[in-house]
Amino acid sequence: MQMPILEANGMRMPRIGLGTWPMKGAECQSAVESALSLGYRHVDTAEMYGNEDAVGAGIAASGLPRGEVFLTTKIWNDKPNGPAIRRAFDLSLKRLATPYVDLLLIHWPSAELDLDSALDGLAAIRAEGLARSIGVSNFPPKLLQRAIGKGVGLACLQVEFHVMLDQSKLLGICRAAGMGLTAYSPLAKGGNLDQPGLARVAAKHGATPAQLALAWLLAQDGVAMVPKAASPVRQKENLGALALRLDAEDMAAIAALPKDRRFVNPAGLAPDWVGG
Ligand SMILES: NC(=O)c1ccc[n+]([C@@H]2O[C@H](COP(=O)([O-])OP(=O)(O)OC[C@H]3O[C@@H](n4cnc5c(N)ncnc54)[C@H](OP(=O)(O)O)[C@@H]3O)[C@@H](O)[C@H]2O)c1
Repeated sequence: MQMPILEANGMRMPRIGLGTWPMKGAECQSAVESALSLGYRHVDTAEMYGNEDAVGAGIAASGLPRGEVFLTTKIWNDKPNGPAIRRAFDLSLKRLATPYVDLLLIHWPSAELDLDSALDGLAAIRAEGLARSIGVSNFPPKLLQRAIGKGVGLACLQVEFHVMLDQSKLLGICRAAGMGLTAYSPLAKGGNLDQPGLARVAAKHGATPAQLALAWLLAQDGVAMVPKAASPVRQKENLGALALRLDAEDMAAIAALPKDRRFVNPAGLAPDWVGG
């Protein structure tokens, strides 16, 4: 099955990537290697995950030319300005053992964030060719609008998004700005997909709830996703979403699920999701 591409402000991101948190070391390297051998061409990591070395080793061991793999990393929220981001990014590149990343994100906003300096820092890294595209993660609507207003050509917002969390506001802002949205926790963390409405639609298609959840995200314009799966069996199952086509009845059943379930909301880290 051909992997569809999300195109946004010059970025070309395979719409299903592999999430890697919280895997580390040999487990992470082997998950990256198996995903790439199954056809994944997009891997999501971050400075904070402590696995950039394993992700880089997995990509190298795959034997794929670097240009065939879309690689995202993120700089942690204790780097509030451009110079601090640059210092951290240089270390990320070393750990990843790659000359560039495809997408570099600010991982979470913080109260100390100097938005202008941070975005200028990202743009300078991009201008040097060390990051092909730049973006932000976990930015709420007003802050995202401010960031877009800086005019540095952000390509992507990464936020939690799945069948049980409405993100229409952020998605509308991204679409209007020509940005893509990468859904993290696209499986609602895996264990929360046990919903009768979803099970009915899954049974109708001979598919699993996880495949349905990803197929629903694939039906949203401008959205990519990074499901985390450690085993080749689940990695393959998740790619099976590409073969599913949801009809109006399926979409209505999924629309009727609760839409207020946010599973990543760490106290002291998460912004004001509505007013921020
Ligand atoms: N930007 C951010 O702040 C941020 C925050 C959170 C996550 N992320 C990124 O997004 C990625 C994905 O998010 P996530 O890990 O929070 O949640 P997720 O991808 O929604 O769910 C991962 C969980 O689902 C399980 N799973 C995988 N495939 C499955 C299947 N077919 N059926 C049932 N369960 C399945 C996995 O278990 P096994 O692996 O054991 O199979 C794991 O426990 C992360 O790995 C990370 O790269 C970014």
